[in-house]
Amino acid sequence: MSDIVERYDIPEQHFWLHGTRSGPAVEFDARAGMWNVYGYPELHEVLGDPATYSSDTMRVVPKELLPSGDDFSLEGFITQIDPPEHGKLRKLVSSAFTRKVVADLEPRIAALTHELLDAARERGRFELVSDLAYPLPVIVIAELLGVPSSDRALFKQWADALFQRDTEISLNQSAEERSADLQATMKPWKEMSGYLAGHAAERRRQPRGDLLTRLVQAEVDGERLPDEQVVNFAIVLLLAGHITTTMLLGNTVLCLDAFPEQQDRVRADRSLIPDVIEESIRYLTPFALLGRATTREARLGGVTIPADQMVMIWLAAANRDPRQFPDPGVFDPGRDPNPHLGFGRGIHFCLGAPLARLEGRVALDILLDRFGTLRTVPGDPVQFISSPSLTGVRRLPLVQG
Ligand code: HEM
Repeated sequence: MSDIVERYDIPEQHFWLHGTRSGPAVEFDARAGMWNVYGYPELHEVLGDPATYSSDTMRVVPKELLPSGDDFSLEGFITQIDPPEHGKLRKLVSSAFTRKVVADLEPRIAALTHELLDAARERGRFELVSDLAYPLPVIVIAELLGVPSSDRALFKQWADALFQRDTEISLNQSAEERSADLQATMKPWKEMSGYLAGHAAERRRQPRGDLLTRLVQAEVDGERLPDEQVVNFAIVLLLAGHITTTMLLGNTVLCLDAFPEQQDRVRADRSLIPDVIEESIRYLTPFALLGRATTREARLGGVTIPADQMVMIWLAAANRDPRQFPDPGVFDPGRDPNPHLGFGRGIHFCLGAPLARLEGRVALDILLDRFGTLRTVPGDPVQFISSPSLTGVRRLPLVQG
């Protein structure tokens, strides 16, 4: 048992937090009809070989499990695209979402953090997720894209509906489960697409200085992004841009609550903040799980995986593989190097990593300034997100002052 499990009520499905796994690094789950990969070297291999392990997982999902009709398309959904199309799209969107665009946000992130903390102080109680970790990244990504941050209740509704489901992931669902799942996904998807399509169309008519405008205008080798791709990329940003960073902020503070000696160290030496952030991503990996589909028979971890199989790769488990990380259950920001896979690896490496790291760094520095100690409230329980594919807190009450 790790310290974290003893201290907080961590759901069973977050098995990687409940001590070192003893089973094989690669195994077939007959009930779900998919393969699971848990080991670090095996994941490293999968992520580095997109020709064998395709991101276009829809290819191997039975047709009846997929939404149908004209109102659903994954065109431009960058995480699902393979080379060579992926490289073209990545170049186009990277030309709009540059490191400089992100770096320039630092003063705004700091100002927003102070505003949100001031508002919480006035209310006289502090719950990290709803008071800071959720609104901060959502406001930042909304302002960056150029959609009204006051619509964030809507974004939360969509994101919750799309991500925070407790159900197990399986290709062998019953017809009723399938239909319920499809309905739960399609409604928020359609609403979100319609919302962003409206804003993108508006930017074509009236350009502004925001990221949506840069996306509709982006051009590489004389090619522009079709509308559908702009909308789907904006959906990825709006979803990835806040859920994961919300988890990163909550998880980092939770680690400093669980390991007070590390909190003292970073409080005394703020140059350690980036290492604390990286170790938090390894220790409590926000995106626990990614999917890939084999394009051909593959040998992995001593096992043969046939072609056209769904392969679930558990970043969160690999980040605790003792073959790569000695004492993986210890939160140790001093790990050097710390080659965690929390942002993925290879051609799909997280495009938002600089923004997530910046938000984490700025918010943690300010929290350490404004709170003499960051600690949870005795008797007021921390709650984890129960979805098996996410590791994060959804409620983290902190002692004020
Ligand atoms: C891709 C994690 C924050 C945008 C990814 C991938 C991971 C990841 C694991 C790889 C997906 C794959 O290989 O299939 C995280 C974590 C974050 C975070 C843990 C926060 C702690 C962000 C932010 C943004 C963002 C803030 C944007 C505002 C993206 C995009 C991709 C991506 C666009 C797709 C890149 C591609 O397919 O080429 N992220 N992310 N992420 N992330 Fe993040």
